[in-house]
Amino acid sequence: MEELQVGFVGLRRGGGLVRALAAHPRVAVAALCDLDQATLTAMAPDFGLGDDRLFTAFDDFVNAALDVIVIATPIEFHAQQAIAALESGKHVLCEQTVAYTLDECAAVIAAQERTGKVYMMAENYCYFHYMREWRNLVAEGTLGTLFYAEAEYVHEIADLLRDPETGTPKWRLPRAPIWYCAHTLGPVLTLMDDRIVKATGASAGRHMHPEEDGLGHLDMEVGLFHTQKGNIVKILRSQVAHRHPHSVYYTLYGTKGFIENGRHIEDRASTGRYFNVDTMTKQAGAQEIECPTIDPDAPPEALHGGHGTSEYFMVQDFIAAIDNKTKAPIDAVRAVEFTAPGIVAHDAAMQGGVWLDVPQFR
Ligand SMILES: NC(=O)c1ccc[n+]([C@@H]2O[C@H](COP(=O)([O-])OP(=O)(O)OC[C@H]3O[C@@H](n4cnc5c(N)ncnc54)[C@H](O)[C@@H]3O)[C@@H](O)[C@H]2O)c1
Repeated sequence: MEELQVGFVGLRRGGGLVRALAAHPRVAVAALCDLDQATLTAMAPDFGLGDDRLFTAFDDFVNAALDVIVIATPIEFHAQQAIAALESGKHVLCEQTVAYTLDECAAVIAAQERTGKVYMMAENYCYFHYMREWRNLVAEGTLGTLFYAEAEYVHEIADLLRDPETGTPKWRLPRAPIWYCAHTLGPVLTLMDDRIVKATGASAGRHMHPEEDGLGHLDMEVGLFHTQKGNIVKILRSQVAHRHPHSVYYTLYGTKGFIENGRHIEDRASTGRYFNVDTMTKQAGAQEIECPTIDPDAPPEALHGGHGTSEYFMVQDFIAAIDNKTKAPIDAVRAVEFTAPGIVAHDAAMQGGVWLDVPQFR
């Protein structure tokens, strides 16, 4: 089978995705695009790319002879670039989240349907090794029927909101914390095989940065959700609170027990807890479980991307969808289901905590 000609736009975080894709035998790194010429010039020799394969203008890049475009630009560009890439006949792997507005979310779904091309959200946290193990546990019925999940992503990145030296605003400055909800909702909705239908939210004030009035500096946002199956999900997000190391946390409750990871990853793993009412006693309580981000059985090249072995398995699913002519596991509809609830929860918070319907796309 011929190699897929793959182009990449946005090369900072995108640099990790280039390495993750390049490790796949079906992929040829065929073009790079970034506003910053120095970034292009620095990366090009690693892939033997001449100047005609380097682009600073997306409009030229999107029309190049490519099979696939991987998008890792700031979120405000995701929808328009993904739609343009699909329309020009490319399959798309796009960083999360889908967009900042519900209209743009709907437009990405429409473009996927119209073009028949593969769109996949690059939601890597769904592919952490422990998440893949938990999927098996859930499928085997070890937790019984799931009815509640909670997730948090508290990661202080104040320096990425506004340059601390110059005061220059950065692209994340206007991003409400809970708009960035795919790392929390993605894994729990995958495990629950469910989607959000109603949302409310609460936003804390600006204790951390009282001098700032943008959305990005809100201390904390909480989203509370009803799901299509009648379950409840709660998420917590902050990008300014002092929690070091940052917290990536999931807990799920089912009719036979619960499972949770440790909030802090050390040496690419955390220690979580797991309880099963059939095999454990209340007196002894939950047992500790290791929650590694790396699959110990994966080949060495699985570590080329980053975030443990998550990106290796994510890329495998993406390429398999192209080769098998199927929708990707996190296709545009699913990607919007990982995105839209955060947009609606923020709106609900701004309206004082009302409950709002989350638009449905299936
Ligand atoms: N999944 C993850 O774990 C993870 C981690 C970090 C970032 N991200 C996502 O990756 C994306 C990029 O984040 P980042 O931290 O690399 O941002 P960044 O600001 O550090 O880098 C963005 C890069 O894109 C380039 N760029 C900006 N606008 C462009 C445009 N219109 N056309 C071409 N190039 C453009 C910039 O020059 C820069 O090189 C975001 O969507 C972010 O949410 C995901």
